[in-house]
Amino acid sequence: MSSKYYYITTPIYYVNDVPHIGHAYTSIACDVIARFMRLAGKNVMFLTGTDEHGQKVEKSAEKFGMKPQEFTDKNSEIFRKMMHQLNISNDDFIRTTENRHKKAVEHFWQELVDKDEIYLDKYDGWYSVRDEAFYSEDELTADGLAPTGAPVEWVEEPSYFFKLSKWQDKLLEFYHNNPDFIYPESRKNEVISFVKSGLVDLSVSRTSFGWGIKVPGDEKHVIYVWLDALTNYISALGYPGNSEKYSNFWPTATHVVGKDILRFHAVYWPAFLMAAGLPLPKSIVAHGWWTNEGQKISKSVGNVIDPFKLIDEFGLDQVRYFLMREVTFGNDGNFSKDNLVARINSELSNKIGNLMQRTCSLVYKYCNKQVPKVSKEFIAKIYLESELINLAINLGHQNNDLMHSFQINKVLDNIINIAEQANAFIDKEAPWALKSDQEKMNEVLYILLEVIRHLGIMLLPFVPDSASKMLDQLNILEDSRSFSDLSPNSALIPESMINQPTPIFPRLENDIS
Ligand code: MSP
Repeated sequence: MSSKYYYITTPIYYVNDVPHIGHAYTSIACDVIARFMRLAGKNVMFLTGTDEHGQKVEKSAEKFGMKPQEFTDKNSEIFRKMMHQLNISNDDFIRTTENRHKKAVEHFWQELVDKDEIYLDKYDGWYSVRDEAFYSEDELTADGLAPTGAPVEWVEEPSYFFKLSKWQDKLLEFYHNNPDFIYPESRKNEVISFVKSGLVDLSVSRTSFGWGIKVPGDEKHVIYVWLDALTNYISALGYPGNSEKYSNFWPTATHVVGKDILRFHAVYWPAFLMAAGLPLPKSIVAHGWWTNEGQKISKSVGNVIDPFKLIDEFGLDQVRYFLMREVTFGNDGNFSKDNLVARINSELSNKIGNLMQRTCSLVYKYCNKQVPKVSKEFIAKIYLESELINLAINLGHQNNDLMHSFQINKVLDNIINIAEQANAFIDKEAPWALKSDQEKMNEVLYILLEVIRHLGIMLLPFVPDSASKMLDQLNILEDSRSFSDLSPNSALIPESMINQPTPIFPRLENDIS
């Protein structure tokens, strides 16, 4: 049975960097899912936050001549603001330097020690500070770099190890028994072959720097930043206490992550949890990476995309829409301003905006600024017989399944499909030519307004401000804007006032550079 709770998380972001398109993308995707699930009636907990410990952050702070705590306080705030600027509806924002998190990590560590899952030894091997990851010799490229292209350094130091190798078979069994654990399928296969190729025990503490959570009882060591960071997903729910939040939400957890950090989430994290005797999250969803006008995004190339500049140039909802629409969720995508402008103009402006503008202007002009007068019987009838209304209803149902399997862009395909059919309907019925048959004109315009109401509600997760404006124009009450209102029970009330139509999705100029 599906739970009424829904827990969704973004990765927590490293504070050494300023927000870029990758951070914005993951956050917006999670926000769309969270908003969708709320509209579908779920009790949602949506978590994001910042990852503040480790060598990478310590080095960055040094570079800026700041104390790590001062540095992370400043930069974490920038991410908090980003959430606000992107209209992200997170319920909590966790920082790994907070006490609630530190206590959870210490407890989690102790559980692993008590269960004999951790032992002291010595690490001799490669480490990449940029990736905060250990690499074996045979993983390095011919140039001696990490497989991600990051530089590595040789490390020799005492270290605690987690008995990862012991969990190999249990993990494979778990993936087998829970085929929906990793999305998409192609990534799942990658994870399985990685685990099958053999797991070695994982170094989980460092001694050569100090910025982190100290190993309980052995303060020379700080806990490996990934063990620390992954625990955020339960510390925010009140672990290790017996909170209701934890028991309600944890079994429903969905972690959305970029493909580069899938291994940490789909292999290490489940192994840590199994070892600590805790239940596993429900799903791990890996999304692809964006390139910029065909090129890999990197600081050294200097083509990092600043999400705030994009919003200033094109508008927030326009950017949110483009990012969710342009690629099949899970695949890589190419960012291009021309494509963004083309998408916004051909879909949001031409299909949705025009439909709304045409319909509302006619209603304003020929129906007394009121929802056209039709009978109750007519409303009941169109819910049974109108092809357009039925298309909206059916695709609305389908969207629920699509979102539960994280096919975010397909939900938008459906929404655009409804708008296209509505435009074809208005062209075919030509209500402007029905001045001599007011009853017929009322019926055609009523169907169109009702479909616009559906579209407005369906668009809320993606373009929250613009979709709210659509619904405001129809004077739809705040408490009648959920998916349960996509039914005849909440149909527009004939002869209720609508508001003066104003353009919702203005066309963008093509020559913006
Ligand atoms: N701190 C870790 C996550 C710990 S979660 C317990 C981390 N942080 S990060 O700030 O580097 O990662 C941010 C997210 O941005 C990752 O999901 C990553 O995949 C994503 N992206 C970074 N660059 C990206 C693109 N060019 N395109 C899409 N997403 C990308 O990793």
